[in-house]
Amino acid sequence: MSPTLTAYVNGQFMPLDAATIHIEDRGFQFADGIYEVVACLDGHFLDLDAHLARLQRSCEAVQIPLPCSLDDMADLIQQTYERNPYSDAMVYVQITRGVAPRSHLPHHQLTPTLIITSRHLPQPSDEKVATGVKGITLQDIRWKHCEIKSIALLASVMGKQEAHARGADEAFWLNEQGHVLEGCSTNILAIIDGVLVTHPLDRQVLGGITRNMAIAVAKVHAMHVEERPWTLDEVGISEMMMSSTTNAVMPITTLNEKAVGDGKAGVQSLQIRRWMIEEMERLRAA
Ligand code: PDD
Repeated sequence: MSPTLTAYVNGQFMPLDAATIHIEDRGFQFADGIYEVVACLDGHFLDLDAHLARLQRSCEAVQIPLPCSLDDMADLIQQTYERNPYSDAMVYVQITRGVAPRSHLPHHQLTPTLIITSRHLPQPSDEKVATGVKGITLQDIRWKHCEIKSIALLASVMGKQEAHARGADEAFWLNEQGHVLEGCSTNILAIIDGVLVTHPLDRQVLGGITRNMAIAVAKVHAMHVEERPWTLDEVGISEMMMSSTTNAVMPITTLNEKAVGDGKAGVQSLQIRRWMIEEMERLRAA
């Protein structure tokens, strides 16, 4: 029979099998959290202070308040270790921003989620140590697959936080060449010399369904469209707009505190928005 394991979840110790987290926990919905794994050997933690210091640095970097003091955290880690049957253990600590209705930028101060578990620390066999391990190399893809609608959205959450701190609604990502890619939760399109321009579908952007709809309605109405990399210093940029399921198309009037075009909602952006809303109204009436 497998041993009964104990988990610490938000102030309570409980059987691991009964330990659950709310489905609107931001760890689950945005990977909006941080963690540590610390080894314990016969009751002695290996470099616990260094793990706690890194935990604190990680929390600070993503602006999640520490759920308790580091001394209290050390005590909870110790207690979790003691309540589980392993003398050699890896103790896992995870902190997320907490539970809230899904929105990249949480609307109020949240109580962080804290969980701690303890599992047996596996040791490689002498034979495995003697033979060593086999490896492969890969191009570093961390995280360079924006075409996947992944829930690993911590960077997007950090971007939204930065936008909010600077009085903006959305942050738009530039790559190393200065190409304007997409927003934290939107695609971005521009009118350049009268042409609707947006970054092509590659790994650097999500293939937004609304982006496609904007392109489709523009083409139906004989607007010229180019899917190509573009930069902010291109001459002829008169308008910008962002698109997403939750926004349709929204004109962008200010970028980095400077007016886009004449600083008013762009005429063509609003036209595209109207065409899209007409489509939506047709759907509603169908
Ligand atoms: N976000 N790019 C990113 C990074 C997004 O997260 C989204 C959507 C889009 C637009 O995709 P679509 O047009 O299919 O909604 C582009 C959703 C709305 C969200 O995370 O809430």
